[in-house]
Order: sequence, then structure tokens, then C-alpha cells
Amino acid sequence: MSEQDELVGRGEAIAQAACAGCHALGGADESPHPDAPALRLLSQTVNLDVLEARFADASVSDHPDMPEWQFEHIDAAGLIAYLKSVQSGSEE
Ligand code: HEC
Repeated sequence: MSEQDELVGRGEAIAQAACAGCHALGGADESPHPDAPALRLLSQTVNLDVLEARFADASVSDHPDMPEWQFEHIDAAGLIAYLKSVQSGSEE
């Protein structure tokens, strides 16, 4: 397994644990939370490199429905690598 695959695998585990309650993961069609965008569509509205900096900063979103995450304990690089790997409609 390449280093990149390992990074993506770690990110997927984080997303499953921390995001899947509200956001659709991977190819799933509908997010459990009606206002939460599917993670594969994030790059249409957010710059994932900027998001990585926000993760590192522990400020993912100002939206009240989104819990504040302790991203110092979370592998922001892995999470972003996973998010990039699942984007559709983007050449990133
Ligand atoms: C408790 C529900 C919930 C969880 C858990 C959650 N989100 Fe969200 N998230 C939302 C909602 C609702 C929105 C839509 C906010 C809006 O429209 O302003 C959102 C929006 C976002 C956005 C878009 C923010 C923007 O500035 O446009 C990103 C990126 C995001 N979430 C990433 C994540 C990631 C990554 C995780 C896991 C680490 C996660 N979310 C976990 C509910 C959640």
C-alpha cells in the first residue's frame, strides 16, 4: 500500500467516525442531515486546501449545526486526502 493510500484510508476512517452522521460519504446519494452537502461535492463550494488550513485551526465551519472539532487530535492531512479522493466533477 502506498503512503498516499494509507493517508486516504486514515482520512476515510475519520470521515466515517466524525462526518458520516450528517454528510453523505463517498458515492452515497443523500446526506443524513438535509442541509449538509455530500462530501464528494465539497470542492464545488469550498477550496479543499483552504479547508485543510481550517481543520488545522479547528474551525471547520461557523454553521451552528456543525460541532466544533478538536482537530489537533485529528489527522487533517489524511482527512483532506480522503476528501480529495472522493470529489466528483472536479479535476483536483
Ligand atoms: C452534526 C452534523 C454535522 C457533522 C457531524 C459534520 N457536519 Fe459538516 N456541515 C453540516 C451542515 C448542516 C452543513 C451545512 C452548513 C451550511 O450550509 O452553512 C455542513 C457544512 C460543511 C462544510 C461546508 C462549509 C462551508 O464553509 O461551506 C464542510 C467543508 C463540512 N461541513 C465538512 C465536514 C467534515 C469534514 C466533517 C467531519 C469531520 C463534518 N462536516 C461533520 C453538518 C455537519
